[in-house]
Amino acid sequence: MSFDPNFLDRLRDQVSIAEVVGRRVRLTRKGREHSGLCPFHNEKTPSFTVSEDKGFYHCFGCGEHGDVIGFVMKTEGLSFPEAVEKLAGEANLPLPRRDPRELETRKRRADLHEALEEACRWFQEQLETPAGREARDYLAGRGLSPETLRAFRLGFAPDQRGALRKALNARGIDDALLLEAGLLKQPEGGAPLRDYFFNRVIFPIPDRRGRVIAFGGRTLSPDAKPKYVNSPDSPLFHKGRVLYNMARARQAAHDGNALIVAEGYMDVIALTQAGFPGAVAPLGTAVTEEQIAELWRMAPEPVLCLDGDAAGQRAAQRAIERALPTLRPGCSLSFATLPAGEDPDSLVKAQGSAAMSRVLAAARPLSEMLWTGRLAAGRSDTPERRAALRRDLMEAVERIQDPGVRQEYRQEMLRRFDEAFGFRRQRPGKGAWGGGREAGRGGRDRRWEQPEPRPAPPRQSPALLRRRPEQVLLALAIAHPEAALDRVEELAAAPLQSPDLRRLREALLDWLAEVDLGAADLDSSSLRCHLRGQGFAGLLDGLFAPQIYLHESLARPEAPPRDVRKRIGYWILRVREGGAGAREESAGTGSQAGSDGLSGEAEAGTDQPSRAQRERAMAEESTAQQRVIERFDSSEVAD
Ligand code: UTP
Ligand code: MN
Repeated sequence: MSFDPNFLDRLRDQVSIAEVVGRRVRLTRKGREHSGLCPFHNEKTPSFTVSEDKGFYHCFGCGEHGDVIGFVMKTEGLSFPEAVEKLAGEANLPLPRRDPRELETRKRRADLHEALEEACRWFQEQLETPAGREARDYLAGRGLSPETLRAFRLGFAPDQRGALRKALNARGIDDALLLEAGLLKQPEGGAPLRDYFFNRVIFPIPDRRGRVIAFGGRTLSPDAKPKYVNSPDSPLFHKGRVLYNMARARQAAHDGNALIVAEGYMDVIALTQAGFPGAVAPLGTAVTEEQIAELWRMAPEPVLCLDGDAAGQRAAQRAIERALPTLRPGCSLSFATLPAGEDPDSLVKAQGSAAMSRVLAAARPLSEMLWTGRLAAGRSDTPERRAALRRDLMEAVERIQDPGVRQEYRQEMLRRFDEAFGFRRQRPGKGAWGGGREAGRGGRDRRWEQPEPRPAPPRQSPALLRRRPEQVLLALAIAHPEAALDRVEELAAAPLQSPDLRRLREALLDWLAEVDLGAADLDSSSLRCHLRGQGFAGLLDGLFAPQIYLHESLARPEAPPRDVRKRIGYWILRVREGGAGAREESAGTGSQAGSDGLSGEAEAGTDQPSRAQRERAMAEESTAQQRVIERFDSSEVAD
């Protein structure tokens, strides 16, 4: 609907923008200008101004800017004609007449609104009568406070047939209107008109502006069917477009509350009572595309609550199918899964709002649900099945209309696919070598787990002190894999502190496991080549370098393998001792081991140890070595 520009000018003239804004923002007046804290972004000092003369508001902080109609649209989530109608109503400015037909429909709609409002009041009144007692008890039994009953305008349709009709006829609302409003129904075969709702608790359904446009009715008896009936569609009510509690939730979401999509009336009410005012529900159907669009008008990422059972997962997949074509930058859905057998109403009742908050906090994004849903749909244990999965994923992605979102989804799905099925070594289980091998082969499948985040490189000097023996140990093992294989259990159990070195060890252990199974040759240069290919090139450069050879000449790959097993045993003990004897790192002139992460082994070949350093290291070395050798000779670690 378009408005005559003259009418809009008159509206802007008659409405005080400062007054309208002033309902939401505390304004301080300076002449004809007002200022206050911007309602569109968070701020501590006012950069939001309203000019009565210009009829504009403007925020110097976030750039929000507009006239009084725009302000009402933005702060109340209304469309342009809705905001105009609202402001015109407040200013007592009659909306301009249009052609007679439009005038006629407008009049009809106004009458319908009025009939529904009257009916709503009447239902509310019935809840207070003696006949409403059972319904009152029922609602109280479900934990609804009197304030909640009032806020949601709950009512009761008594069991007396024709009562509503009589009452509303008496208030001047004729049967034709009641029929159109869905309050009466015409039975087949010309029998007399009947009430649509009887002996039911009534849930009025407001539109986005809070006007009653339909009703839902719940039976009081536990096993009467159907449990709920909803008004039929009418000129004001289109089931697939409306969400229960839209008006309140719109404001709540605008005020920063989560927008939660539950399944039923009672869920919405219970959530609101439990402190989640941004709750809505579709009306007995799966969420439609129109409802998703409606949700995005309220908040960019509504959370859909799902039952924790298979039906809930199916509902999620249906919602995903609906949403995919319409995804756009910034707008998506997320999915929160309830404990099995609970709906939000029963959950907050049994376990309180904290339990609901936890459910919401664990909500998963649509992209993840798409991936897990497609993955769970079939097996992916052969190349053909994996190809089918990949094709399904790409078909889903192609349904996204927005090119930017589509592109991101394509990458995301391929990344997940690659992570699950791409060439990647299994990581051995924690510590124990034997377990590791099991896990790598037949054990729990770890392929779908997220990679660990990269820990920050070691920086503190204790870490630096500990790092050197760990490096030497790994250098020895990599330079002489046959000896490493002999000592593989101890190697796996050595308490390495540096996360990057631990990762290197895991790659080494993986490789040794392959070798053990005959998949590779036990040869240092092919091992090093393999590790470089796995992203450890920087680390290796730091291991096969003079600083390391200084401590352990056998760490050179070309060194004869004699005694290497013994030396590995020795360095494992050094690692367990926690870096005693590696103090040259903190005192020395500069090698900042690992200071710039995985690729950061800048020590390679660059800083040759000075003679003094070398001597000090050797002196420390020999005492530490002596100490260890004493223990070594008498311990079970010895050959
Ligand atoms: P549920 O059967 O899950 O009921 O229906 P509920 O919301 O948990 O209701 P209570 O707690 O037993 O009162 C979910 C929604 O599906 C629609 C209603 O909108 C209901 O809130 N529905 C359900 C119908 O429209 N008709 C029905 O017969 C049942
Ligand atoms: Mn329920």
